[in-house]
Amino acid sequence: MNVAGRPHRTLWPEPGSAAVAIIDQTRLPHEFAVLRLTTLEDAARAISDMQVRGAPLIGATAAYGIWLALVADAADGALQAAARRLLATRPTAVNLRWAVDGAVAAVQSLPPSARPAAARAFADRLAEDDVAVNRALGQHGLALIRRIAAQKPPGQPVNVLTHCNAGWLATVDLGTATAPIYAAAAAGIPLHVWVDETRPRNQGASLTAWELREQGIPHTVIADNAGGHLMQHGRVDLVIVGTDRTTATGDVCNKIGTYLKALAAHDNRVPFYAAVPSSSIDWTIRDGRREIPIEERSATEVTTITGRLADGRMGTVRLTPEGSPAANPAFDVTPARLVTGLITERGVAPATAEGLRALFPAQAPT
Ligand code: MRU
Repeated sequence: MNVAGRPHRTLWPEPGSAAVAIIDQTRLPHEFAVLRLTTLEDAARAISDMQVRGAPLIGATAAYGIWLALVADAADGALQAAARRLLATRPTAVNLRWAVDGAVAAVQSLPPSARPAAARAFADRLAEDDVAVNRALGQHGLALIRRIAAQKPPGQPVNVLTHCNAGWLATVDLGTATAPIYAAAAAGIPLHVWVDETRPRNQGASLTAWELREQGIPHTVIADNAGGHLMQHGRVDLVIVGTDRTTATGDVCNKIGTYLKALAAHDNRVPFYAAVPSSSIDWTIRDGRREIPIEERSATEVTTITGRLADGRMGTVRLTPEGSPAANPAFDVTPARLVTGLITERGVAPATAEGLRALFPAQAPT
């Protein structure tokens, strides 16, 4: 997508060197900074420190991390250690396991001398596939938005509410939840996006707002608690969120606060969709609330806030009293019964085991 009018991706291998460039998302929206990853440790740290974040982008970065590891040492032990290091970075997004397992499977039967090139080819393919999958999600989501637009008075915008950042910054390009929005805008459908700020890390306020502004999509940032009120007053036509892990039965794990939006949407009969690339489906589990590991992040993300100070420098200030403990579960699980549908690259499925199986018969458990 565009940054200052020029097309960009969130990560790209640098031509002619063993290095991957990323956009440092901890500096957005105030600064657009590009970082170079040249080692396994660089890739692992970029994921755990959330310089890259969002389930699909975590997966792509990990695949390139395996490549960088093998450039330094392509022996069996180094491959296994690289996989373990990357898998330990963040626990919730299943795309990480999917990408690391895929990269290991693509190289392990090869002689060490052939492994770096094969790992690089795997990572390049994964990155390209991510964009193609998101383009398909966009087209399937566009059909939903088109139907809603057709029921509104001509010229009235479709109001979409989204949570966190499931935009192009969470993927290699296009985004998952935002792909339908970008497709609808390209199709000339008037749109407006309610952007949940998404405390505590504010991915909505910092990242989604920035990327929508860069693409010229009308949007309004709202406090996380405003969504229910807007739905009660008919000001939200549909909700589209992303996912970090969706079960084989359609339970959707996503950024903390998503569940509350789903409850409010259900109470107000607002359609609630999750954009779910199949790389985010964990076919091995059926009960999201019990089986998905929820990342606990540092309490300082709750007790402090970082932003640009009046003098232009970045600064962090304390919000809570010294001595008040804070807890920071980073994700929650929306039960399938609250989800209107799952927008996948193969079409929109009901959030049920049968619905997913109909679209993915080879992957779904019987
Ligand atoms: O903690 P993050 O920023 O990596 O979490 C990302 C999210 O939860 C996104 O909202 C998302 O929907 C998954 S990525 C498309």
